[in-house]
Amino acid sequence: MQPLQDLQGRKFPYLRLSVTDLCNFRCNYCLPDGCLDHHHSEALTVDEIRRLVTAFASVGVEKIRLTGGEPTLRQDFSDIVRTIKQIPGIKKLAMTTNGYKMDQRVTDWLDAGIDAINVSVDSLDPRAFELITGHNRLREILSGIQNAFDHGLPSIKVNAVAMKGINDDELDAFLDWIRDYPVSIRFIELMQTGNNQDFFQKYHFPGKKIQELLLERGWVRKMRLADAGPAQEYCHSDYEGTVGLIMPYSKDFCNDCNRLRVTSLGQLQLCLFAESGIDLRDLLQSDEQQEALVARIRDSLRLKEDSHFLEQGWTGGTQNLSQMGG
Ligand code: GTP
Ligand code: 5AD
Ligand code: SF4
Repeated sequence: MQPLQDLQGRKFPYLRLSVTDLCNFRCNYCLPDGCLDHHHSEALTVDEIRRLVTAFASVGVEKIRLTGGEPTLRQDFSDIVRTIKQIPGIKKLAMTTNGYKMDQRVTDWLDAGIDAINVSVDSLDPRAFELITGHNRLREILSGIQNAFDHGLPSIKVNAVAMKGINDDELDAFLDWIRDYPVSIRFIELMQTGNNQDFFQKYHFPGKKIQELLLERGWVRKMRLADAGPAQEYCHSDYEGTVGLIMPYSKDFCNDCNRLRVTSLGQLQLCLFAESGIDLRDLLQSDEQQEALVARIRDSLRLKEDSHFLEQGWTGGTQNLSQMGG
């Protein structure tokens, strides 16, 4: 079948699937008022997920990332992983986690078939870490990362949201950490969502500044692979690890968009900052609906905008990213 493509010619081999909007952390950038204020309805079942991923795989999706909320809060997380791994066409199954269960559970996830893990570590200072996430778990999370390496995971990405006055002085500490450690740290520019305007004004730290500091320290921008996503990658011959910059406010960020999202309730989101989603759940109820499902996905792609227009102050319909899995 013809792979998915939008009107700009962008292709979508990558689907980010949120499996729950619940989270046990309270990251200040994600939940600036400290609470989840949306209603929790029932998340997609394993069977619904199987039908959804089968349909996307039939039109060229090869990589799935499980997100949340915190995806591992699902009791059936390993079942979801095993089910997706069996779907023809899926070559890579990744997950994004806050890491709180990683130390005890990472072997289960790897045994079930997870190929790649991204984990949030916004600070290497235990006090700042707790201030940001509401949890004093830095030590366990770092030990979980080591545990994943010990069990054969070849690489791990670490996400750190850069915030002025909170962790913007930690660049060198992060770089020291990866001198002899093969993680890829990705500094993410704080994004303005529907409910964090004041927080954003106060703490936004431009990704360009991190880029300048990296270049001053001899880091070199890697060549972009054809199918790479929007992150810019940097390397340095003295370091085992690498650095990625996710700068959604930089020019042309969206030209490299290669991903679609589905929320835990089965809404297709064409952009992290889309105003609203397209419901797919009614077409996830039986295997006979696959053709109609694929047709709806294909039709919906015509609505995908060229850009998220963040630089013009647009925040879209997203309240916080726990709703949509980042
Ligand atoms: P890979 O799958 O390894 O390429 O990484 P990823 O960046 O897709 O994964 P991850 O879940 O770790 O994403 C980290 C964060 O990057 C997300 O939570 C978002 O904050 C941001 N991000 C990822 N994709 C997009 C995107 O399409 N647009 C914007 N604006 N931000 C994104
Ligand atoms: N700005 C930037 N990144 C965010 N995340 C969540 N909310 C925001 C925001 N407002 C990202 C963080 C975290 C991932 C799960 O979602 O990178 O690691
Ligand atoms: Fe933090 Fe992710 Fe949970 Fe949001 S969803 S509170 S970013 S761990």
